[in-house]
Amino acid sequence: MARVAVIGAGYVGIVVATSLAHIGHRVVVGERDSERIKLLESGDPVIHEPRLEELLKGALSSGTISFTPDNRVAVDRADVVFLALPTPSDAGGSADVSAIYGALEELASTLSPTSVVVTKSTVPVGENERIAAFLASKGCQASVVSNPEFLQEGSAVEHFLNPDRIVIGGEDPEAVRRVMDLYRTLPGLRLSLTDTATAELVKYASNAFLAMKIAFINEIADLCTAAGADVLKVAEGMGMDDRIGLKFLRPGPGYGGSCFPKDTQALVHIGNTYGADQSIVRAVVASNEGHKEHVVRRVAAELGGLAGKRLGLLGVAFKAGTDDIRESPALSIAGALAAGGARVSMYDPQAAVPEEMNVSQSASWEEAVAEADAVLILTEWPQFSAISPAELADLMAGTLLFDTRNILDPEAVVAAGLQYLGMGRV
Ligand code: UDX
Repeated sequence: MARVAVIGAGYVGIVVATSLAHIGHRVVVGERDSERIKLLESGDPVIHEPRLEELLKGALSSGTISFTPDNRVAVDRADVVFLALPTPSDAGGSADVSAIYGALEELASTLSPTSVVVTKSTVPVGENERIAAFLASKGCQASVVSNPEFLQEGSAVEHFLNPDRIVIGGEDPEAVRRVMDLYRTLPGLRLSLTDTATAELVKYASNAFLAMKIAFINEIADLCTAAGADVLKVAEGMGMDDRIGLKFLRPGPGYGGSCFPKDTQALVHIGNTYGADQSIVRAVVASNEGHKEHVVRRVAAELGGLAGKRLGLLGVAFKAGTDDIRESPALSIAGALAAGGARVSMYDPQAAVPEEMNVSQSASWEEAVAEADAVLILTEWPQFSAISPAELADLMAGTLLFDTRNILDPEAVVAAGLQYLGMGRV
């Protein structure tokens, strides 16, 4: 059992802290938002993740997790200190690491020389080295280790407790060993031990590659639509080659979320910084933006223009199973449709439309599609897969259904008297 501090109770911090407490460590979480601390201390995990509430309540009752607004209290006598602070994109697309250095400024004088500082946040290549230099400049001898996370929203706890791999980058073997030890009870552990720069790059390269797979199949889907081919069969045929794999070849309205958009832009910026142009990732970023615009153009073309048209959009979240709307393609598509003069209503079982958008949020899918000239399915909620095309047809004024997630049966939709537009389906 180790004494662990986790700085930052955001999406990653809460999952990491709760899971480490669950596997037997003593965790203290530093979080400056006292409202969030109150919720967490009451057993409310604040974010929606399967099993998270159960693990948090278990850790609270066994006393293996606690929370404090004072980061110095959190790191006091900690063997390992995880930095789980937000590193959002700045205006130029690079990662903004100011929250990391704000915390280090506050902690440098408190950290014991035997503490290991672990960067869990996604930071640019070379940042861990700069963090170590910053701490040394403040007279702090703590070692710095990179331990990027690969958590997927909706299965974060599962991914933490059964990771594909654990990547640990560090120049101090003893510090690397101490971080390794934290995970030793996890089943079937696959470890990749590297230097810090390599560990940082594994994270960016992994996310960029996954984003590329999605952008690739989305472009193939657009070709399938034009050529009368079936993208689901193309993806199946491709994926049977285990060098390609079936996963992340589901076409959709474009990728979103808090990571892919941020990390692809940051990787392009990192490439520019080092004079190693990441032209493929740059193309992925452009392709994803273009794909969302293509969705809007297809709707406008089918309707003969957007002005005055009533549109029902099903889905707000960036993917099913979460209320997270960060970089959601549904929202950028809704905004573009509204800007084109359409009257847009949206429904989502969990996610909320930002107040400032010129879009109304309906209380049910039926309300969102009522009297609509066209309906778009933008998030693959199971509730939308269960929609009866006949009921949908009765509620709509028009007949156009654009199923950007390919979750409905085209034949059943056409049989109900609607026009079916899929994403790469005939
Ligand atoms: C991603 C990575 O999967 C995870 O490893 C990393 O740590 C964080 O970023 P996440 O952003 O939670 O996780 O969502 P993910 O399930 O990867 O989906 C990202 C986006 O791609 C979503 O908008 C999703 O709808 C889209 N997507 C995903 C597709 O359009 N098609 C697919 O086949 C898979």
